[in-house]
Amino acid sequence: MARDATPAPGGGVSIQALSHTTLDGARSVFNTFVRTSNKRLCFGMCPACDEPADRFDNIFHEDPSRLRTAAVAVRMRDGKVLGAIVCCAHGQKRTREERLMEPDPGIGESHVEWLAVLPEERGVGMGTDLMKWSYTAVKSLGATSMKLTVLGGNRARVLYERQGFARVGPNGCANVCVFGCVGCCLLGCPYRDPRSTFNASEMVKTL
Ligand SMILES: CC(C)(COP(=O)(O)OP(=O)(O)OC[C@H]1O[C@@H](n2cnc3c(N)ncnc32)[C@H](O)[C@@H]1OP(=O)(O)O)[C@@H](O)C(=O)NCCC(=O)NCCS
Repeated sequence: MARDATPAPGGGVSIQALSHTTLDGARSVFNTFVRTSNKRLCFGMCPACDEPADRFDNIFHEDPSRLRTAAVAVRMRDGKVLGAIVCCAHGQKRTREERLMEPDPGIGESHVEWLAVLPEERGVGMGTDLMKWSYTAVKSLGATSMKLTVLGGNRARVLYERQGFARVGPNGCANVCVFGCVGCCLLGCPYRDPRSTFNASEMVKTL
């Protein structure tokens, strides 16, 4: 087990810091997430393409500290990455797409850039464990709060509320609305749920 790995409930899965050996697995989770959530345009991505390795990996090469605030849920039996979380704290380098979604975190702040678990692996606590791991990670870089954005209708909001996140208002980023409207027209409803919307909310938790 990796030095910073912790066993997840249910056994057989460990939560560990992202590393160069698990980047491919994390990218696969990310691509599955955007493919199945109709969320590509929110990330400024081509609707028909998966995120290529060089583009996905680049930020972790440019700023290796980003590996310290990202984690994967790895099945011990075969090393398969089942889920991932990517966060960032004040002072860490970010991608253009990340900055489109959220301004850089200020002193003492941190963000969840994205969180996803493979569809067939959801509901057994991995998402919660990845979140819990990330609190310690961003705190080690001086964060005292964590912010995230969740789209209307996403059931993940319940998970965040359970973790102590409270809604602080709509996401102020106009790009979400612009990409969201275009996305709805071109791709259909986010999360393939007709009740969902692109009206993003910001949620914050004190760490
Ligand atoms: C959100 C997500 C990471 C949670 O992972 P998980 O391993 O299922 O989480 P846990 O087992 O710890 O917690 C389950 C809770 O997650 C939420 N959840 C469950 N299935 C979900 C789904 N398909 N989509 C969104 N949230 C879901 C629910 O609140 C659930 O609690 P409930 O069963 O009491 O309603 C996962 O469902 C996922 O990858 N969803 C798609 C990506 C996404 O929406 N990411 C968040 C963007 S803000």
